[in-house]
Amino acid sequence: MQFSIKTSSVDSLRAACVLVPVTGGKALGNSGSALDAAMGGLLSAALARGDLQAKAGNTLLVYGEPRRIARVVLVAVGEEAETSERAFGDAVRGGLRQVGALSCDETVSLLHEVAVRGRDLAWKLRQQVGIGRELAYRFERLKSRKESQPVRPERVVLLVARSDAGIAQAAADQATALANGTDLARELGNLPGNVCTPTYLAEAARELAAAHKLKIQVLDRKQMEALRMGSLLSVARGSDEPPKLVVLQYRGGAARQAPVALIGKGITFDTGGISLKPAAEMDEMKFDMCGAASVLGTLRAVAEMRLPINVVGVIAASENMPGGKATKPGDIVTSMSGQTIEILNTDAEGRLVLADALTYVERFKPQAVIDIATLTGACVIALGNHRSGLFSSHDGLADALLAAGQASGDPCWRMPLDEDYGEALKSNFADMANVGGRAGGSITAACFLSRFARKFDWAHLDIAGTAWKSGAQKGASGRPVPLLTQFLIDRAAAGN
Ligand code: BES
Ligand code: MN
Ligand code: ZN
Repeated sequence: MQFSIKTSSVDSLRAACVLVPVTGGKALGNSGSALDAAMGGLLSAALARGDLQAKAGNTLLVYGEPRRIARVVLVAVGEEAETSERAFGDAVRGGLRQVGALSCDETVSLLHEVAVRGRDLAWKLRQQVGIGRELAYRFERLKSRKESQPVRPERVVLLVARSDAGIAQAAADQATALANGTDLARELGNLPGNVCTPTYLAEAARELAAAHKLKIQVLDRKQMEALRMGSLLSVARGSDEPPKLVVLQYRGGAARQAPVALIGKGITFDTGGISLKPAAEMDEMKFDMCGAASVLGTLRAVAEMRLPINVVGVIAASENMPGGKATKPGDIVTSMSGQTIEILNTDAEGRLVLADALTYVERFKPQAVIDIATLTGACVIALGNHRSGLFSSHDGLADALLAAGQASGDPCWRMPLDEDYGEALKSNFADMANVGGRAGGSITAACFLSRFARKFDWAHLDIAGTAWKSGAQKGASGRPVPLLTQFLIDRAAAGN
């Protein structure tokens, strides 16, 4: 679905289809009324019959003159003159779905004419692009019979006043870049473990780097051994697939400006290792690289937006498999930081790969480090599927991420990180164990990570509940690419 901006007036408009917002099931806005006049009152006559329910997302199809305005889809936006974000989203979804069921390839949208509480025109335009692209996304690469029809509508024209053309174009461009990044994260997440291996992830990173002139380095097992990444390497031991540590650098800011580092958990399949997971839903552990996918997706969005900021993206990629060489419960490894870890549960592998990646990014002297990981089932129990878990010992960084989550519609929720929780990680034989008990599992996991993040401002996002959907709608969500991208947009705007 492609979006463009146009500034022609409603009176001279020709279109196969126009999306028009309606309040209270009755009231047209200014351009809706102008369109109604141009159509000889067809719209108001249709509304007068009372067939459009006010609830946001309901639609009523009205036919006009084929060579002028062939169709209008009247879209309910709720009862109030100023509608809510949620209702606006429902209206956009409902309207685009209705157009999708018709035979037109292109539609003009006037949906942004309705007022949304606390949001401006740019937001309403970005929202339409984001929702449209979400609706249009299909994962068909591995289906032998592809959908024959392209997703309709293929093109959406956002009609705005001439004076708004500049901000409208900027909004559409920004939202398109974000959707491209989100799609990349979804695509990588949806690929199965036998395709999307650590080597495949590294190759995808290489393609991204080539397309956007990013600097890239892919460390293999030997190089990780030389760096003494005993923690990360312990996870890869049971697998025939070689692990990779991918390091990408986007330099859009001043040369002396410290970068923001994003670190993604890239377990391309998590069987649990010797602490093997039960069979039910184990297929979903192909999504255990969604943190890594979100780093690549965010870099794509940031590069397409040409944000004036420096970003380092690191992905720690490995499989977690049982095998004759696999790490066993009770094994003790030495991390790159020098701290020793007793691995009591090989299924707590995400924190092990992240620990060494955290130590590795010290060399970039980052202004902030954010790791993103499908880290714990406990986080899903705590927060469900709507908000990602946010952990940080730095209030400023935590507040910025919370705000970016709210602004982008990809929210997170701050969780505690008191030192006291760390007591659960005591080991009789090493500096620490890799698991606490069942209690507060997402917090003890974050505590573990914090011990490798003492040299910089750091935050951790546990996306176990938000990175993909289960059930009939099973698939990667592309989250938290919107949150991370918004965070970087905000940082870039603040000039640091
Ligand atoms: N990748 C999983 C976390 C996960 C589980 C995400 C279910 C989404 C749904 C992670 O590697 C893991 O296995 N964590 C364990 C930790 C435990 C052994 C302390 C968990 O959450 O059960
Ligand atoms: Mn695991
Ligand atoms: Zn895992």
